[in-house]
Amino acid sequence: MSEAGSDHKQRASLSPQPQRKAPRLAAGRARALGLPTRGTTNANRLRRVDRWLLATQIPRLRDSARPLVVDLGYGASAVTTLELVERLAPEVDGLEVVGLEIDPARVAAVEADRDPPRVDFRLGGFELAGLQPVLVRAFNVLRQYDEESAARAWTTMCAALGPGGLVVEGTCDEWGRRSTWVALDAEGPLTLTLAARVSDIATPSDLAERLPKALIHHNVPGQPVHEFLRAFDVAWASAAGMSTFGPRQRWVAAVEALAEQGWPLVGSSRRWRHGEVTVRWSAVAPVE
Ligand SMILES: C[S@@+](CC[C@H](N)C(=O)[O-])C[C@H]1O[C@@H](n2cnc3c(N)ncnc32)[C@H](O)[C@@H]1O
Repeated sequence: MSEAGSDHKQRASLSPQPQRKAPRLAAGRARALGLPTRGTTNANRLRRVDRWLLATQIPRLRDSARPLVVDLGYGASAVTTLELVERLAPEVDGLEVVGLEIDPARVAAVEADRDPPRVDFRLGGFELAGLQPVLVRAFNVLRQYDEESAARAWTTMCAALGPGGLVVEGTCDEWGRRSTWVALDAEGPLTLTLAARVSDIATPSDLAERLPKALIHHNVPGQPVHEFLRAFDVAWASAAGMSTFGPRQRWVAAVEALAEQGWPLVGSSRRWRHGEVTVRWSAVAPVE
């Protein structure tokens, strides 16, 4: 069954079991917060977020006294965690990556992939097993929780970060062609990024189906994220002539139009050529 296919069933079973507050135990001893969900993963599935991490987060890791990264909810195999190590390690001296899973069977299954301290796998949940990382990648994990639980998970993960830390929480399709993620620090959400294989989409709002849990139910008229996607679709339609130069040139032209309209885009325009755009969270955050 596809991930999206059984979402409703999964959420229904998760809803009656709210998370408890993290007990005050020594680091690493706290109860793992959350519930096991389907472990679907695929090689190279998380390449888009990893490229963004490489382009934007290396200074954060290099500036850290201990460049520790947590990959939360790595799933049925270690493959995307090992890819993260391969991608970041050449750029960051002393990099340590810890894959955390709430399902003990999945921790046991990747025993042979452990190579601590470079890469390790442990039991843990949203409390991050007391690790205090500088970067957390949590991909395709919150999709299977209800919105309220996902909001609590944000708070718990951000509280567990080390100094200057960042959580990157997002989702993507099975093959990683459509992806979105939110970056959060200890103060809360900072940005929303959309990233796509542009030749694979009809309009930018095709990415709506992959919005993070905090936004997906707010993609309705009157909500900022809906306005953003609508503006993007209009800009995309206006940039149809750029298709002659390829879909990514069309994407760049549409994003330039968004910037001209005053949407608060963040980061280098070089990222746009990769079928990516990052917008300040305040411009897309749900309103009452
Ligand atoms: C769909 S898989 C995602 C695998 C991989 N991150 C990817 O994107 O391909 C979701 C995994 O998250 C795990 N998970 C769910 N809640 C969790 C939590 N609170 N802490 C740690 N892992 C969790 C599930 O057990 C499952 O293995």
